[in-house]
Amino acid sequence: MTNKTTLDRRFFMKGAGAAALMGGAVSIPATTAAAKGMGQTHMSMAYDLNENFNRIGSGDFKWDAIRRAAQPHNVPFPMGVADMDFRTCPHITAALQQRINHHNWGYEAAPADYKANIISWNKTRYGQDVDGSTIQNCIGVLDGVSSALRTWCKPGDKVILHTPNYSSFFSVIPGALCELAESDLILKDGVYDFDYDDTEKLLKEGATAIILCNPQNPTGNCWTADQLRKLGDLANQYNALMIADEIHCDFVNKHAKYIPYASLGEAYAMNSVTTKSTSKSFNLAAHRTGYMFTDNKELMAKIVEVGNHHRGLLNTMGTIASNAAYKHGATYMDDMQAYIDGNSHFLENFCAENMKDVKYSVHEGTYLAWLDCKAVAAKLGRPEGDDRMGDMLKKFFIEKAGVNINPGENYGRTGAGYMRMNLGTTHAKLHGALNAMKKAIDEI
Ligand SMILES: Cc1ncc(COP(=O)(O)O)c(C=O)c1O
Repeated sequence: MTNKTTLDRRFFMKGAGAAALMGGAVSIPATTAAAKGMGQTHMSMAYDLNENFNRIGSGDFKWDAIRRAAQPHNVPFPMGVADMDFRTCPHITAALQQRINHHNWGYEAAPADYKANIISWNKTRYGQDVDGSTIQNCIGVLDGVSSALRTWCKPGDKVILHTPNYSSFFSVIPGALCELAESDLILKDGVYDFDYDDTEKLLKEGATAIILCNPQNPTGNCWTADQLRKLGDLANQYNALMIADEIHCDFVNKHAKYIPYASLGEAYAMNSVTTKSTSKSFNLAAHRTGYMFTDNKELMAKIVEVGNHHRGLLNTMGTIASNAAYKHGATYMDDMQAYIDGNSHFLENFCAENMKDVKYSVHEGTYLAWLDCKAVAAKLGRPEGDDRMGDMLKKFFIEKAGVNINPGENYGRTGAGYMRMNLGTTHAKLHGALNAMKKAIDEI
């Protein structure tokens, strides 16, 4: 056995032990699982992502609010809200602690190297050249999307969203006084693609912007250069702005590649705005700190003025945390990517071998798995009253398995029968959740 294999095996064994402690209907021997999924994890071993980190009682949304709402049902496996369960990168906590010791909370200026770290992260990891003069702070990525929409679109303009897509876009678009133009992604042989004809039709009808989610939440697609170019060419031809939300870009499974939209070339970079943050990558969502940029200086100047983005206020802790993340977090992020990759493979094998009514193949990007649960829904029968299939499935998994996952319909009209599961958790918790789901399905 090579040293690498020994490390991988030891890494998995830590998680497997915890899974056994949590109990469950099916136990998968560590050696089997190591050979078929988690054992492929290649990590620096610098961070113990298998730690059973307890979030209960901290006041967070996923572990406290959602579980409170599910009462009287016990939900040991909340896997809906898109944040992660791990202890954060220690450099982030250290930077925050240092700032807290200062005991003063007036208006904050960004650290001197704040923009340089944003530029360096994107260049080092993705070869992307970010024009630092256009970087604007946002109170989160959606705030940037909203400012871009308010600047570019007139009230009533149609904005194209390729669905299934992140649920909050459905409220951000009307929030910017625009109208949603939903274009269904095409699913062929298990792979999603844009419907270019439908997109062109919507553009001809006057849509003025496209929101691109890359990697896509919830389907997990990392869009290829060809796909992005085809979509971008249409946007450019009809003078529609491409708003690229690339918040999930740091989570890319091993077989996939994330291509920043603005890196496709000048024509694409000039007709787009990209929004990003450290909030998914380093689990800093509640710090409300993101950023946006473009190669089009004139456009960003308009966003600042017309889109009323001129305040660009900084959140002290968010800025400190984000800066520490990009400055010191590369190894942590590499480990995290490998860990999520391991979880994705484990899930695929578990479904194929133990839970055939749930269909899933390892996705490309994000830490979110898009589960085809139509066979489970069929076993459960028709939803009652006005309930959607996803509401029925959600209720079933909460009540019978203690697992909270999100209904596919939340992400668009083609989402029925799918559920979104968050894999940003330990192998042990994932294993426990899958055991519980399998048991519940077997008992239908
Ligand atoms: C694609 C996408 N964009 C934006 C957000 C939210 O970003 P923020 O909280 O920074 O506004 C999420 C959160 O899940 C997301 O998945």
